[in-house]
This record gives sequence, structure tokens and C-alpha cells, in this order.
Amino acid sequence: MRVFSSNKELLKSINNHGLIGIVPTMGSLHDGHLSLVRRALNNNDQVIVSIYVNPTQFNNKEDLKAYPRNIDKDLEKLRDFKDLIVYTPSDNDVYSKMTSKDYDFDELDKVMEGKYRPDHFNGVATIVEKIFKMFKPNNAYFGEKDFQQLSIIKTMVKKLGIKVNVISCETIREADGLAMSSRNEHMTKGERLIAGKINKFLIKAKEIYKNKKIDKIPVSMIDEINNLKNCKLEYFEIDNLSKYSSSLIDEGDRIFIACWVGKTRIIDNIKLK
Ligand code: PAF
Repeated sequence: MRVFSSNKELLKSINNHGLIGIVPTMGSLHDGHLSLVRRALNNNDQVIVSIYVNPTQFNNKEDLKAYPRNIDKDLEKLRDFKDLIVYTPSDNDVYSKMTSKDYDFDELDKVMEGKYRPDHFNGVATIVEKIFKMFKPNNAYFGEKDFQQLSIIKTMVKKLGIKVNVISCETIREADGLAMSSRNEHMTKGERLIAGKINKFLIKAKEIYKNKKIDKIPVSMIDEINNLKNCKLEYFEIDNLSKYSSSLIDEGDRIFIACWVGKTRIIDNIKLK
């Protein structure tokens, strides 16, 4: 493993032949990230993992401050992968001015996460575009837990004509079904037990959808979640993101959920067909 905090130094060490894969992360790595790294290593000649908590995608300063940072543990987890290149930049190595660009995502940034986290997707796209332009990867790997983020990145790449394959990778889950996320480590034991129920609601809603052909989540299920201790639902809906962006192909309907369990925000989704 080679670790660089300067993109210029990293670029000098890259071999210009063969495929380059990239796994952009904000660190606090878990098995979900490691599965992206494994997939990237299987399909590319060189793989870069970036670890950078990107300030411009946080619409809330407290959330940015509280975001978990565990760089020593992260490097320890990556140490066993052979031939990995890790990019751990300072703010100055990526931003000359700490601002995000204003993108046109059609209507995709106005729904779900876009409603609850204003400007979040401009920040995500800004850092991902910068990383793509720095390292010119052939393949970039993102998890499906953040399915709307994945769709935003596909839209950005298509609209800007960036030559990279954006590869969506299955969500990796804990034993009780909770989607792995760096934010999960903030939860108390009690909150963690409740969080484990979120994926079960998605599975139950999928069953109801299949049997009754509904296009809305039943109010009784919404009430059930809101009645869980410390749980506050933001959205729980059946949707198809391709209807919000002319750059996306139709991958079918999904059920999306976002809710707070205590101070931890959880998002997840499930494919319907
Ligand atoms: O999903 C994340 O961890 C971040 O949003 C990303 C894609 C690394 C951009 O900062």
C-alpha cells in the first residue's frame, strides 16, 4: 500500500498503462467499503482509494464536526490489500476555494435526500468530479445504499461527458439487515437495535407491493415506524429515479427510506423487481 496526501505525488507514481479503478470514500471504513475495494482490485490494474471528509457536502456544520474520522484504523484495514494506492488529501490539495459548483441534475436533486439536505448533492458532485479529473479512472465504485447519490454521479458524468464507468455495488449489511454505514458507530445499543428494524420494514413493504400492487407505502407502516422509540421518519416511498433525470436509464422501481434513530440518520432502499 502506498499513501499520498498530494495528488501530484500520487500521479507521478501511477503507471499509465492498464485500467485504473477508484473507490471514493469519506473514511471510517467498514466491510461495505472493503467490498468495493475488492471488486475494484479484481477488475483493474491499479486501484486508488480516496479518504476525504468533504466539507462542501455537509449542509450542517455540526454534522461535519461529528462525522467519524479514523484514519489510522482505515489504513490498518487497507494494509492487507496488495498494491493499493491511498489518497488522503488535505483541504488544500482538493480545493483552492471551499465551495461547491452548481450542477444541473434536472429534478433529481429536488427529491428525497435533496429535499432534506439542501446543496448536499452539489457538494458530492464537486468532489467526485475533482477526483475523476485528477486521476482519470476507467472505473469508479459506489455502494447502492446511497442510490440517489449514485444516480447523481451517473447524471453528472453523462452531462459533463466524463469518460468513466460508474459501477454500482450491492449494499453490504450487518447480520440483522442494517445497511453498513460509517454513521452507524454513533448509535447507542438501544438505538442500534431499533435501526436493525429499518431494513425489515423495506422487506415488508416490498412484500405488500408485490401482493397488492400498491404505489404508496400504507399509512399504518409509516405510523409503525414513527411509533418506534427515538425514531423519526423523513421519507418512505416507492419511486423510480429515472423519471427525474434525462441521463438515467430506467432500472425499475425501488422503495427508499430515510429516518433518524436518535441522532443518527439512516438511509436505505430495496429494488422491487
Ligand atoms: O459516499 C460517500 O462516502 C461520499 O459522499 C463520497 C462519494 C465519497 C463523496 O465525498
